[in-house]
This record gives sequence, structure tokens and C-alpha cells, in this order.
Amino acid sequence: MQALILAGGKGTRLRPLTVYTPKPIVPVLNRPFLLYQIEILRRAGITDITLSLNYQPDKIEQLLDDGSEYGVNLRYLTEPSPMGTGGAYKYAEDSIRETTVVLNGDVLTDLDVSKVVAFHRQKKSEATIVLTPVENPAAYGLVETDEENRVLRFREKPDASEVADLKTKNINAGIYVLEPSVLDFIAAGENSSFEYNVFPALLKNQKPFYACVLRNNYWRDIGTPESYLKAHHDFLSGKIKNFEIERTGEFEVATAALVDKRSIIGADCVIKPNAKIINSVIGEGVHVEEKAVVENSVIWSHTRISNAAHIKNSVVGRSCHIGRNVVISDGAVLGDKTSLTDYTKI
Ligand code: GDD
Ligand code: MG
Repeated sequence: MQALILAGGKGTRLRPLTVYTPKPIVPVLNRPFLLYQIEILRRAGITDITLSLNYQPDKIEQLLDDGSEYGVNLRYLTEPSPMGTGGAYKYAEDSIRETTVVLNGDVLTDLDVSKVVAFHRQKKSEATIVLTPVENPAAYGLVETDEENRVLRFREKPDASEVADLKTKNINAGIYVLEPSVLDFIAAGENSSFEYNVFPALLKNQKPFYACVLRNNYWRDIGTPESYLKAHHDFLSGKIKNFEIERTGEFEVATAALVDKRSIIGADCVIKPNAKIINSVIGEGVHVEEKAVVENSVIWSHTRISNAAHIKNSVVGRSCHIGRNVVISDGAVLGDKTSLTDYTKI
């Protein structure tokens, strides 16, 4: 069994965070995001993993290297230009020899992948897709199935009338098990999308195409700032259970400072007297000066937060400088190296 992670998108919706950091390796609890996907694959005994890249591939490759540190064997394939999700799978054709688990490189889940593979085998399926119910299906691929879990319809980014029409809230969770025969439905060298081209073609040709619905697992696409922040809150509140969390590195905290039990503080941070860190994740080497407050937020590494600044429900990129008494709130997202002068309010 092998896996292919589709990790070539530009991460536009997560800008400005993705200007210098491609989406697959944005830090989640101070670890590159892809490590969560690598972990669920490894747990299912899948160690042969290909990463399909396009946007800033070198950064991803340099960081994750050959994967041996994580108990897997990573290979990298970079398309000359974005081929689309199906096109990226076709581009990997030479390295696809067997049943393959394909993941969208931005879904956070604690799913047991081996159960999906078992379902795929039991159904003698050619393509199996994991579904999850969501409140706003319009942002995703809506999937209709019959009682036997056969896929009947696949509608990517449906409009409101179609959502009402299909009477389901189950969407494509971006996790597939595919037989190599699916490659025959994709033309080589052309742009192709699983969602708009390949899945509709499987349906048209009445191929065995089944869906497996997530019931008690966590699932989230981290591809927007709100969702990225929410993933952190879900981890901190214990909603995501099946990953080990490293709470603290070695850091220096003044006795009069408050760091609540939920928060995660990276190595080499300095937290000065009367500063407060509440329900937040602080990256490596961050300085939090006196009386500054960080609440429900994510701060990337090497940022400096000056005296009495207040950061609430926001994401602050790497190496930023937040001046004294600055107020950042309500889902603000600051890109790397942003500098805010004293008393700025955003
Ligand atoms: N290699 C490669 N090449 N990867 C790509 C390309 C490409 O041309 N285009 C997109 N990807 C990767 C992205 O990096 C991402 O990890 C994944 O494919 C999905 O792309 P998104 O841009 O995040 O799609 P989406 O979130 O709007 O919709 C998709 O995911 C939903 C679940 O989160 C669809 O698959 C929906 O049907 C699905 O519901
Ligand atoms: Mg996405």
C-alpha cells in the first residue's frame, strides 16, 4: 500500500501566512502540518509516501527530507505547472504500482486509514472516497450515495439550490483509496481535477465507486485562517484526541506571568512579568514583554510582543514586531515580518 499527498496548491485562502510558508507545512501546534497526515498513514502501516508538490517545493523537501525521522519513506514529485488534483495523480503514474491512498494535503483528521482500506477491499471498489457531514456543504464537494454506499452524484462547490436538491450534508473529506485503473480515466499531460473530471467520469462509466462516511472522527480542512485557528482551539480543548501533544519546550517564564494549562509554548520563549498567555500556541523563540496578553491566538516563531500589547483570536506570523499597547483582535491575520507601531489597533 502506498500514499500520495496532494500538496501543490498555492494556499491562496490562507494568505498572507502562505507567502513564505507553503500550506502543507504551516505550523499546527508548532509542528509542520503534514506530520499529522504522515502520522495517520504510518499508523495504518503505510510508509511509502509521495508528496505531489508545485508551490515552494524546496521548502517542503528541505524540512521533511527523506521522512526517516518520522518513520516513513518520503518521495517528492514536482509538476512543471499545477496539473490539478487528478492531473497531479496522473503525473505520479510511474510511481503508482498498487492501491493508493490519496490525501488532500490540508485535511486534519484522526481517521483510522486502515478501516477505509478494509472497506474499499470488502466492497471490491475501484475508487473509495471518505465523506464527512458539514454545516456549509457549498464550500466543498457534495456527495450523494445510496443505501449500499455507492456514490450516485458528486457536485463540487454546489450552489444553494443544488445543496437543497441533494438533501445531504455529506461532503468529500479529501481522502481516497484508488486502484491504479483510475489512472486510465485521466489523460496524460493535461490539467485534470478529481472533483470536476475524474469522479464524474467514474460515475458515467458505472465503475465501482463507494463512499465511507466518517462518524466519530475529527475532520477539518485547515485551508482558511478561521479554520486554521479553529484547529488549534480544537486541539487545546481536547477535541482532537489521537495525537500526542508536546506542551512545552524549554522556556523562560517570569513567576508573575500567567500561562494557562491549555497553552503550548515553544522552546526558547521569554515571557516577562505580568504577561498572560491564555488558550494560545506560541512558537519557538517568541518574546512576550511585561503585561502583554495573548488570548485564543497562534503566534509563529521569533515574534516580539511589546509591553501591554493585547492579541486576541488572531494569528501572527513569524518574526513580527508588535509594538507597545497594540491591540490585535477578531480574526486578524498578520504575515511574517509585519511590524506594528505602538498603539496601533487592528
Ligand atoms: N500537486 C497538486 N497540484 N496539488 C494540488 C493542485 C495541483 O494542481 N491543486 C490543488 N492541490 C492540492 C492542494 O494543495 C490541497 O492540499 C488539495 O489539493 C485540495 O485543494 P484545495 O484547493 O484545498 O481544495 P478545496 O479545499 O477547495 O476542495 C477540495 O477539498 C475539499 C475538502 O477539504 C475538494 O476535494 C472538495 O471536494 C473537498 O470537499
Ligand atoms: Mg482545501
